[in-house]
Amino acid sequence: MAAALRFLLLTICCCYISSSEANNPVPKLHYDYSRIQETDQAWKCWKEGYRPAPATSNKIHESGNGTAADIERILRFDQSNTVLFLFASNSDNLNLHTTFQIVPNKLVRLSLDNAGLERLELAFTGRDNDCRLAELSVPRNRLSVLPAGVERLTALRKLDFSYNLLEEFSLDRLVNAPGLKQLLLAHNRLESFGASSVQASFASLHKLDLSNNRLRTLDSTYWSMPLLDTFHVDNNRHLTTIGGWTRTRFPLVKGFDPAGTNNWNQTWLKSVQ
Ligand SMILES: *[C@@H]1O[C@H](CO)[C@@H](O)[C@H](O)[C@H]1NC(C)=O
Ligand SMILES: *[C@@H]1O[C@H](CO)[C@@H](O)[C@H](O)[C@H]1NC(C)=O
Repeated sequence: MAAALRFLLLTICCCYISSSEANNPVPKLHYDYSRIQETDQAWKCWKEGYRPAPATSNKIHESGNGTAADIERILRFDQSNTVLFLFASNSDNLNLHTTFQIVPNKLVRLSLDNAGLERLELAFTGRDNDCRLAELSVPRNRLSVLPAGVERLTALRKLDFSYNLLEEFSLDRLVNAPGLKQLLLAHNRLESFGASSVQASFASLHKLDLSNNRLRTLDSTYWSMPLLDTFHVDNNRHLTTIGGWTRTRFPLVKGFDPAGTNNWNQTWLKSVQ
């Protein structure tokens, strides 16, 4: 009798363990990345038109499914000889919690798309600025602040923080990146965006995306962006006007949708269309 009971308990127990294992396999996450290593690191600052020379560079592309630990290992690649690293995942990454530290003056392009990023750091030690990083794209992560030191990225052409958790953004932090062409901040929680009283001069900026945020007020008085042609600000549901906006200051922007997803003051809107 006791033996039979023991057998029964053992069976139940085993069944329970094996079925819970079957129901909860170690989750695998999709990944896809490209990386270009360049052995010649004698050159210093990035310039428009730069291409890694085939003789001294090596391109790696890999995709697959891995555990969170596998992805963390992939993100810890050696930055000392890397000029490009583009990572993307199409998995639900809610259980992936990663941190990334950028080594200054190495990478030219960095993209970490849906990589479970919760912290991004710039590992500046001395007083040098970074004059290589031209693209910093970290869309679809959980970043709530810009990294300290972002004001030292002088070669920046594209900054993409869309689909993160930013609550504020100051253009003052990018004044050392006058060559900036694209600033993409859609789908954050921005309640403020702007520049302090100093002139924020971005002579090359042609795309600014502030859509799907929480802006209630926006003041463009101190923005100097003569080439701006693509400006998205839809889905800021309480936004009624944009201070300082005139057609002559932003001649290439086509205008705003009167029936769109903002709360435009129609009198103001007619005066700027
Ligand atoms: C990764 O898993 C998905 C399904 O979860 C599958 O469709 C895909 O083929 C896998 N990819 C690789 C490279 O194994
Ligand atoms: C709408 O804008 C006009 C012109 O800019 C302004 O005079 C008016 O007070 C605004 N209306 C509201 C309700 O804020």
